[in-house]
Amino acid sequence: MIFSSSTNSVPEVAKVPKHVAIIMDGNGRWATKRFMPRVAGHVKGVEAVRGIVEACASRGIEYLTLFAFSSENWRRPEEEVSLLMRLFVTALEREVAKMHANNIRLKVVGDLSRFDAKLQEMIAGAERKTANNTRLTVTICANYGGRWDVMQAIGKMVQEHPGASDFSEEQLSPHLALAYAPEPDLFIRTGGEQRISNFLLWQLAYTEFFFCDTFWPDFDGAALDHAIASYQQRERRFGRTSAQVLKSGEN
Ligand code: IPE
Ligand code: IPE
Ligand code: MG
Repeated sequence: MIFSSSTNSVPEVAKVPKHVAIIMDGNGRWATKRFMPRVAGHVKGVEAVRGIVEACASRGIEYLTLFAFSSENWRRPEEEVSLLMRLFVTALEREVAKMHANNIRLKVVGDLSRFDAKLQEMIAGAERKTANNTRLTVTICANYGGRWDVMQAIGKMVQEHPGASDFSEEQLSPHLALAYAPEPDLFIRTGGEQRISNFLLWQLAYTEFFFCDTFWPDFDGAALDHAIASYQQRERRFGRTSAQVLKSGEN
């Protein structure tokens, strides 16, 4: 299915966001505050992911996209990076069967070539196993960067149209990493920072933003409901006037 683009036409808006994208930030500070090592925060963070996946499924959200490791996170101390990789492997080992049983599709997007072969195989296996599930699509962005995404999509688009010098959005968008999902309706960043940190640069064109101070390990179903309630107060105009939106009967 090809989803319409928010810049080419006004998308349909539903009361419950169809696609929620989250920057899960604050694991390190959660741990430091408790005099624990940063890694303890990441372990707790994985538990929070489990809770939010369930909360999204039960609220009828169809796509959940989680920023787990950015293309810039390699700059962290080597021990933290390798622990994050190990956590990723254990989470896949432990969670995939349960996700499959709950009719959840798993996708992992980013430049996966930098991960070790075993992890790449596990990712491919998990994606294959859950490919036909329909309740909720969970996308993990790993070694993902918004600029990487746009650049890799441009590369593929140019290859597809050799010799062309003029391109359209429609020619680019099928090559973006999240081409199988509609653009996010709601973006959440936990942990108090108000920045995108090279997350979905292209796809957030008309997404509603919600920032909260809660550290990711503490983000639960009630916190999600808070973000959704805020989302439901917004008037999504997509460039139009408020009067036009009211007349169209949306929102
Ligand atoms: C987010 O939490 C998890 C990853 C980036 C992997 P952080 O590790 O960035 O936590 P803070 O921001 O240092 O508290
Ligand atoms: C963004 O968080 C990346 C993830 C949550 C995976 P960071 O903690 O890396 O972002 P900055 O460095 O504070 O911008
Ligand atoms: Mg951080």
